[in-house]
Amino acid sequence: MSALIEFKGFNKYFGDQQVLKNVDLQVRRGEVVVILGPSGCGKSTLLRCLNGLESADGGHLRLDGEELLAPGTDWRQVRQRVGMVFQSYHLFGHMSVLDNLLLGPLKVQKRQRHEALAQAQALLTRVGLLDKRDAYPRQLSGGQQQRIAIVRSLCMNPEVMLFDEVTAALDPEMVKEVLQVIQGLARDGMTLLIVTHEMAFARAVADRIVFMDAGRILEQNDPESFFSNPQTARAQQFLEKFSYMESLPKKMPAKELS
Ligand SMILES: Nc1ncnc2c1ncn2[C@@H]1O[C@H](COP(=O)(O)OP(=O)(O)O)[C@@H](O)[C@H]1O
Ligand SMILES: [Mg+2]
Repeated sequence: MSALIEFKGFNKYFGDQQVLKNVDLQVRRGEVVVILGPSGCGKSTLLRCLNGLESADGGHLRLDGEELLAPGTDWRQVRQRVGMVFQSYHLFGHMSVLDNLLLGPLKVQKRQRHEALAQAQALLTRVGLLDKRDAYPRQLSGGQQQRIAIVRSLCMNPEVMLFDEVTAALDPEMVKEVLQVIQGLARDGMTLLIVTHEMAFARAVADRIVFMDAGRILEQNDPESFFSNPQTARAQQFLEKFSYMESLPKKMPAKELS
């Protein structure tokens, strides 16, 4: 079966700096791929290129066989097929939750209000926030706003969802409620590309781990193999940092952590 997403010989520069180097990555429909790697290695840029938020500098990028780097690509259309959620939620503060959710379906997709409303309410129910439909973003916790941001993206009926460190700005007690929503999407068979620093979550949700360093994919493997037996020294170092943090005693004085 052919890939739903395919990067091939993909390159991206910021000025003189090449931040993605000859990236080859294929994602099958229904697959959950978690991208790991140190800060600055190009994870966000890779996702942003897939969504047309950054332009490419050579290579191929195909969505369901269609070359997106060809002239004339309608990126607004692509963004409806490839939803993306970021660390910051960017909900409109002057609009209720429901109005935030209906904006894309009604204004961009020109759908019928009753149909879009039914979908929005079903998705709100699913993430446990139907009772917040008339609330304004400022009345919600960070975890609730992030779940609304995910629902907003899902209301466009995307084929793929990209998640870029969506729990990184959340208080720890709110991380789980957001990760559970993503896990539910994975269980439903949605195609997901996830960048996260939550290693336990990565291991549980991924069909495949992609490890990047300095703009390149260094290794890809199933999660069990990757976490128990990383193939490269860079991946080993990366994972050691996390296992160190997890092994810290809970009440160690702050100054000893530095
Ligand atoms: N808009 C930009 N202009 C210039 N350099 C950028 C820009 N965005 C990212 N970079 C650089 O590109 C590299 C990859 O960044 P990024 O994709 O954000 O990494 P990651 O998400 O893995 O932390 C970094 O060196 C970063 O400083
Ligand atoms: Mg990033």
